[in-house]
Amino acid sequence: MGSGVGSGRGKGQPYGSGGRSGGGAAGEAGTGTGAGLAGARERWVRTGGIELCVAELGDPARPTVLLVHGYPDSKEVWSEVARGLADRFHVVLYDVRGCGRSTAPQPLRGGFTLEKLTDDFLAVADAVSPDRPVHLVGHDWGSVQGWEFTTARRTEGRIASFTSMSGPSLDHFGHWLKKRTARPTPRRAAQLLNQSAKSWYIYMLHTPVLPELVWKGPLGKRWPKILQRAEKLPAGDYPTASLPTDAAHGAWLYRDNVLPRLRRPRADAYAHCPVQLITPTGDAFLSPRLYDDLEQWAPQLIRRTLPAKHWVPRTRPDQLVFWIGEFITAKEERDPARRAVATGAHADRFGGQLVLVTGAASGIGRATAFAFAEAGARIVAVDRDAEGAARTADMSRLIGAAQAWAEAVDVSDETAMEKLAEKVHAEYGTVDVLVNNAGIGLSGSLLQTGTEDWKAVLDVNLWGVIHGCRIFGKRMTDRGQGGHIVNIASAAAFLPSKVLPAYSTSKAAVLMLSECLRAELAGQGIGVSAICPGLINTGITSTARFTGVPAEEEKRRQAKAARMYGLRNYPPEKVADAILRAVVRNQAVVPVTPEARGALLLSRFAPRALRALARLGPRP
Ligand code: NAI
Repeated sequence: MGSGVGSGRGKGQPYGSGGRSGGGAAGEAGTGTGAGLAGARERWVRTGGIELCVAELGDPARPTVLLVHGYPDSKEVWSEVARGLADRFHVVLYDVRGCGRSTAPQPLRGGFTLEKLTDDFLAVADAVSPDRPVHLVGHDWGSVQGWEFTTARRTEGRIASFTSMSGPSLDHFGHWLKKRTARPTPRRAAQLLNQSAKSWYIYMLHTPVLPELVWKGPLGKRWPKILQRAEKLPAGDYPTASLPTDAAHGAWLYRDNVLPRLRRPRADAYAHCPVQLITPTGDAFLSPRLYDDLEQWAPQLIRRTLPAKHWVPRTRPDQLVFWIGEFITAKEERDPARRAVATGAHADRFGGQLVLVTGAASGIGRATAFAFAEAGARIVAVDRDAEGAARTADMSRLIGAAQAWAEAVDVSDETAMEKLAEKVHAEYGTVDVLVNNAGIGLSGSLLQTGTEDWKAVLDVNLWGVIHGCRIFGKRMTDRGQGGHIVNIASAAAFLPSKVLPAYSTSKAAVLMLSECLRAELAGQGIGVSAICPGLINTGITSTARFTGVPAEEEKRRQAKAARMYGLRNYPPEKVADAILRAVVRNQAVVPVTPEARGALLLSRFAPRALRALARLGPRP
């Protein structure tokens, strides 16, 4: 294999700006800056008669991250991720042969085998990081290639780690298919059918000439709009103008490799470096089940899941930057005490996510902050009780939070909430999960509840939630990378009661606003859940107000309520578990305790029974 390094040439252009130096044709001499890769240094690496266009960002003295793009893409698919990594790493991207501004093999047939693609990878790795192994990251066909590089013997020692997303090893896929066809059970047959349906495009790409005609004709023109609509890709500097040619050439990736490998998968396709697998759960082309047996092939495997579609480098760059950065840093530091992933429930999902919890100084809020901390999230603990919030943040750090901060804010104060959002956004980033939990209790008949008491409960329980949803929800939608909002309502939201009119009204409003917001934000990948806990043993009983009675009687009732909640003894930690599950499953309404589940069922199927119960309830 002959390889060499040349100087930069030509410029790539964003899609639609016309003109492209297609496969084989290089542009003018000069220092290039690739489309969407402002500030990148370019060079050309020659190997096996091909010239590969390579872009570099960041300090070459730092560990090298090599990003390999998929089909039908060019290196610009990584522009956001590359920018995010460049302050900590030496980031390298290249156009795969036949794509972007790299030249294409002649003839095309047989020019895209995984063996030749491995030659390309080694040539680039030798050029950009001759003395140190590189950290490989691949998406789609870039990940299929990455698996080949990571499992081939001749690349041993050249790869320090591999992050794979949306692209399985063809060998592993071959074994997966064989296992399911050799011994089909109903479950395995369903998995086979599911993946076969998702693979329709692979059959199409095996037809001669047609894919080339379609890509260079109507599909090539419409592709950016299709991606925006189907994959919710933000408009921007991607795809580049080379797309139709990239897609036509890239059809040979499938034709040269898929059938031969699936028919005869290698028996020794074991990864020789640590692997981080990122699985987008909404991928239209790949079933998450494909990776069921992966531990067998990659013993040092870390799994991450992302509620996203296929093109995660464009739709979720922030999350990828965090996960890639954390994984590489853990590998580089070689510190056995430093785990790449937290060990709590759902750590694969929440690691590094920014989670803001209001009312985090006590009860359900504190337990929720801790559960997210155990999953490795970054925590912002907000409460009007500054000391309590600080304690929650301190303990969150101790039990696994990637980072944790405390903020003293009254959620009913709109200006304070605006300031909080500005600060959080500027210093910690956009919130991924918001938990509007702060709330206060109030008991007393409607006729005995004065305007001030009504105002107090609505200000915190309803307006606090509205401010949180509006102010942080706006930033989530502006970022365009999805997220989740959890509002803590109550079983009181669907239980009429003569003793809790103000509290129940505030919680019914929270339930309804959650349902409305869920509909509003569904198209933007932002989920909304309303949690209805039931009777939970927290401090709320000792702070809840009882109207229309003297102070002493109020104290007596508070103590009585505390005793009752203590006897029921349902812990806030279980509500926290339900909250994390609700986010993972994107559940709309979650009654937590059995009594809350029963009340929800009655409200739907036997509302008269609930009305009768409301009359029977304790005297106000
Ligand atoms: P808690 O009293 O233990 O915790 C509430 C926290 O919210 C406290 O740390 C408090 O300082 C904070 N808070 C109150 N007003 C605030 C404000 N204006 N700004 C910022 N922070 C404020 O109560 P618990 O039980 O943990 O309640 C949490 C949420 O769960 C509340 O919304 C409550 O209505 C709801 N809930 C509780 C149930 C229970 O049985 N404990 C049942 C159903 C719902």
